[in-house]
Amino acid sequence: MKKIAVFTSGGDSPGMNACIRAVVRTAIYHNMEVMGIVHGYDGMINDEFIPLDAKSVANIIHRGGTILKTARSKEFLTLEGRKKAFANLKKHGVEGVIVIGGDGSFKGALEFSKECDIPFVGCPGTIDNDLIGTDFTIGYDTAINTVVEAVDKIRDTAESHDRLFFVEVMGRDAGLIALRAGIGVGAEAILIPETKTDVEELIKKLESGRKNKSSKIILVAEGDDAGGAFKIAEQVKQRLPYYDTRVTVLGHIQRGGSPTAMERVNASRMGFAAVEALMKNERNIMIGIVDKQITYTPFEHAVKHIQELNPDLMRMVNILSL
Ligand code: F6P
Repeated sequence: MKKIAVFTSGGDSPGMNACIRAVVRTAIYHNMEVMGIVHGYDGMINDEFIPLDAKSVANIIHRGGTILKTARSKEFLTLEGRKKAFANLKKHGVEGVIVIGGDGSFKGALEFSKECDIPFVGCPGTIDNDLIGTDFTIGYDTAINTVVEAVDKIRDTAESHDRLFFVEVMGRDAGLIALRAGIGVGAEAILIPETKTDVEELIKKLESGRKNKSSKIILVAEGDDAGGAFKIAEQVKQRLPYYDTRVTVLGHIQRGGSPTAMERVNASRMGFAAVEALMKNERNIMIGIVDKQITYTPFEHAVKHIQELNPDLMRMVNILSL
């Protein structure tokens, strides 16, 4: 293989730059040329290819976001769009592609593989951690640390005013950010899409636990089945008016910021492994790290399954919360 391309796709996540850097430097070490594709699949369609050398990825390991920019491409969902993308990859002599993104990005690569003979290898990049085949996706560790830092601050003011806070965190389909960050901040309850949220049960808990602590923090994943932090808080307010209730939505601060040390190491390992996988003629697989070891998971499998919640963790959450 003489020339590969790398791009980022879907929601950005801290650590993507560390992964790009590892891809570029590993490929150059193995005498390959590297093209960066700007703006994800849209850039592949619109011919936004740029050459990347070792220097072009200097001093990016610590930076959040992605130097290659990203997009959620609608045009790539069409056959027409994919044909343009394929023609551009061919035009630039690309023989292998590394995609850093989440399940939507891998679904796109899988569809593409039916029409395009160029091998794709994926690195899991999403703050949500909602892919099977890796313990941590690129961005997750930084995101949960960002949430912990923000909620610690909310705890200070909540404690001063004896308030009940509902804090909404990202996670459209998965509650893994809420779960881990919730454990980290000692949340009184964690509401996630993977488990049925019983608002009546929550109200009972808040009633009986009223005297336990002066402040209470409830972490709500945005995709929670009871309808998000504002809706749940409204129901609780009506039933328990003696609670001074506030809602905070953390939003996109969770996607930015300098990646943690763990993130930088994991992202570097995955980028490095992705290049080596292409060299071993692997295709349509996602690189992961499970129990500290590099693993390969077929795209088909990674996109169809979501990480199962660890039952021990869930049991512990119930015991340590309210
Ligand atoms: O990247 C995944 C994610 O962070 C989800 O948790 C969230 O629902 C979504 O992105 C929001 O993305 P955007 O605002 O870019 O559409």
